[in-house]
Amino acid sequence: MRVLVTGGAGFIGSHVCDALLGEGHTVVCADNLLTGRMENIAHLRNEPRFEFLEQDVSQAFDCGKVEYILHFASPASPADYMKYGIETLQVGSLGSMNCLEFAKRYNAKFLLASTSECYGDPHEHPQKESYWGRVNPIGPRSVYDEAKRFAEALTMAYRRYHNVDTRIVRIFNTYGPRLQINDGRVISNFMRQALSGEDLTVYGDGSQTRSFCYVSDEVAGIMALAKSDEHGPVNIGNPSEFTILECARAVLEVTGSKSKLRYQPLPQDDPKQRCPDISKARQLLGWEPVVDLRSGLQMSLDHFKSAVRAVAAGVQESAAG
Ligand SMILES: NC(=O)c1ccc[n+]([C@@H]2O[C@H](COP(=O)([O-])OP(=O)(O)OC[C@H]3O[C@@H](n4cnc5c(N)ncnc54)[C@H](O)[C@@H]3O)[C@@H](O)[C@H]2O)c1
Repeated sequence: MRVLVTGGAGFIGSHVCDALLGEGHTVVCADNLLTGRMENIAHLRNEPRFEFLEQDVSQAFDCGKVEYILHFASPASPADYMKYGIETLQVGSLGSMNCLEFAKRYNAKFLLASTSECYGDPHEHPQKESYWGRVNPIGPRSVYDEAKRFAEALTMAYRRYHNVDTRIVRIFNTYGPRLQINDGRVISNFMRQALSGEDLTVYGDGSQTRSFCYVSDEVAGIMALAKSDEHGPVNIGNPSEFTILECARAVLEVTGSKSKLRYQPLPQDDPKQRCPDISKARQLLGWEPVVDLRSGLQMSLDHFKSAVRAVAAGVQESAAG
């Protein structure tokens, strides 16, 4: 197949490109590099089945006939979507519409990368796909949450009104090599701080929980969904739940760091609990994650070490310059 991956120069998108190429497909990666990096796809430079298109998908575009569109373009980390709030709303709405129009034109299948943020600060725990969520529509996180909720509604509408063959994956917190070091999420914050010898910042009392999915597990789930006939949203994430304090301890253990913990107030609308119910994915796709947190952190260690070194070198360079 010729497959379009939007946001393919980002963290998860680049791993999806790798997986598709690994299965023998041809990949067109459309990315405007807002939050992605060419380094993430540098290893594909000489791959004849890989094409990079510098493109803002919120603007109309056409890269020729494709059989599948995997729509991953969107700022994803809180730091990024707070900085690029309007762009986040644009890519969730206009970007998704452009991609769905594209799918309609070429009779291509379409998969939307949605998010657990659709559940907001949930009253139901763990979250099943049938839960409608509890999102603050006007809070600081709404630029992301509502953009994705709109993108899901749009995806379902193109299915209902235009018969586009669609899928929706609700991705839960994912980490691994190529994750941005400054993305403001728990794992990257803790790894950066531990490897730089800084205190680890814990918001609130650290009893709030998160679940973390290693990127190879996440991508395996996404690929399984892409090949399935399921059109309702499917949670893909790791249901093992850790408190923030447990996560901090795991990071200290894996990095061997002597950093201490520093407590700060909880940010607005920070979810207290977030954990996927993956029974649907287990049942329909025969998929479940296999990488535990400590192994995943271990496999990510080299990436975080070199990212920390690169940041330190950049700081030194700008101080010298
Ligand atoms: N990483 C996670 O834990 C997580 C969790 C839930 C959902 N997701 C979803 O997965 C997708 C990928 O997330 P990620 O963590 O890889 O983020 P990322 O920021 O690393 O990647 C997003 C990519 O989209 C590109 N992009 C943004 N706006 C664009 C536009 N208008 N046109 C073209 N390209 C654009 C960026 O440059 C970047 O390469 C996102 O849609 C995100 O919402 C990620």
